[in-house]
Amino acid sequence: KTKVIKIDAENIDKIALEPAAEALKEGMTVAFPTETVYGLGANALDGAAVSKIFKAKGRPSDNPLIVHIADREKVSELTSFIPAKAVALMDKLWPGPLTLVMKKSSAIPREITAGLDTVAIRMPGHPVALELIRLAGIPVAAPSANVSGKPSPTTARHVLDDLEGKIEIIVDAGSSSVGLESTVLDVSVDPPVLLRPGGITPRQIEEIIGQIDIDKTIMGKVTADNVPKSPGMKYKHYSPKAHVIIVESNDMDKQTEVVCRLAEKYIKEDKKVGVCSTDQTFDRYKLFETISMGDRNHPETIASSLFSILREFDDREVDIILAEAVDQNGVGLAIMNRMVKAAGYDIVKADLV
Ligand code: TXA
Ligand code: MG
Repeated sequence: KTKVIKIDAENIDKIALEPAAEALKEGMTVAFPTETVYGLGANALDGAAVSKIFKAKGRPSDNPLIVHIADREKVSELTSFIPAKAVALMDKLWPGPLTLVMKKSSAIPREITAGLDTVAIRMPGHPVALELIRLAGIPVAAPSANVSGKPSPTTARHVLDDLEGKIEIIVDAGSSSVGLESTVLDVSVDPPVLLRPGGITPRQIEEIIGQIDIDKTIMGKVTADNVPKSPGMKYKHYSPKAHVIIVESNDMDKQTEVVCRLAEKYIKEDKKVGVCSTDQTFDRYKLFETISMGDRNHPETIASSLFSILREFDDREVDIILAEAVDQNGVGLAIMNRMVKAAGYDIVKADLV
C-alpha cells in the first residue's frame, strides 16, 4: 500500500518528512514534489534501488535518469569534469528547472545512465524536494512520477492515479508551479546543446553562457536519421488516452474557426470532443466541452496547466482533444514540444484548411 505524507511547503515539518527520507536511504521508492513536476525518487548510488523506478513506471531501461541534489558540493562527486559554462549556469539558475548533462564519475551506477558516459544533474527549486534530499543525505535519481508515456504528474493525485500500490510513499505538497519538466542542457560538449526545452528558456541560458545549439528533434519528427541525443525524447510521450490534434495559425480567428469546424465534424461522428482553448478564445467555444489552458500573453500559465488538463480530459473519457497551438517564444517552445509529442505530430495548419 502506498503511504501519503502531506507536507506544508511554507512550513515544512521535518519530523513528518523523516520517514520518506528513511525510505530513500533504505533503497525504496518515494514520489516527491518539485517545482516542475512530481518525481519518483530512489537512492542514485544504489543500482538495485534505481531499478525499482524503472519497474514501477514501466520505463524502457535505455532511458537515463536525472540525479537530484540539494548541495552544490555533490556535483564534483557525481561528475568527472565540470565545464566553466556549467559553473556559470549553476551560479545563476540553481536551484531551478535546469538539468545539466556532464561527464559522469565512477560513483554513478549504470542503471542511471543507460550506458552513456554522461550524467544529468539538477538541483530542484522546491523547498520540500530540497529538504527531503538533505534529510536523506544522498543524491536522488528521479524521473517524472507517471506511468511511462503518460503526461507527467503535477499533483500527488496524478501520482496516485498512476502508481498507487507500486511505490512506498508519496510526499504531497500541492501542485507543481512550473508544470513542465526541466530544461535539459548538455554541457559535456561545446557549444552546449539544448536536449529538452523546459522552464528555463534558451534565451535565459544564452544570456549567461552565449550561443547554444538546439537539438533538431525538439520540434521535428523523430526518424531513422533524426534521432534525439536525449534518449527520453524519442518515445511517444506525454500522451493522454484521447487522440490529440493541434490546430496552428498565426491568425487567432482562423484558428478558432478551424477548431470549431473540427469539433463539429467529430461530434457528428459520435466522438466525445474536448477543446483546449486559451483565455483569449474560451468564449468562442460555448458549444463544446472546453478548458482554458491559460493566458496567451503569459505562457507560464499555460505550461503550469497543460498536463493536468490532458489528464482531466482523460477522466472525462474524451475521444478527441483539439488544442490551440501557442507561440513558440520563451517557455512556449517547451509547451509546443510537449503538445506536439502528445499529439503524435498530428498538427492541422489552419491557414491551409
Ligand atoms: O523536471 C524534471 O526534470 C523532472 C523532475 C522530477 O525533476 N524529471 C524528469 O525526468 O523529467 P525524466 O526522466 O522524465 O526525464 C529525463 C530526461 C529524459 O529525456 C532523459 O533521456 C534525459 O533527461 N537524460 C537523462 N540523462 C541523460 C544523459 N546522460 N544524456 C542525455 N539525456 C539524458
Ligand atoms: Mg518523464
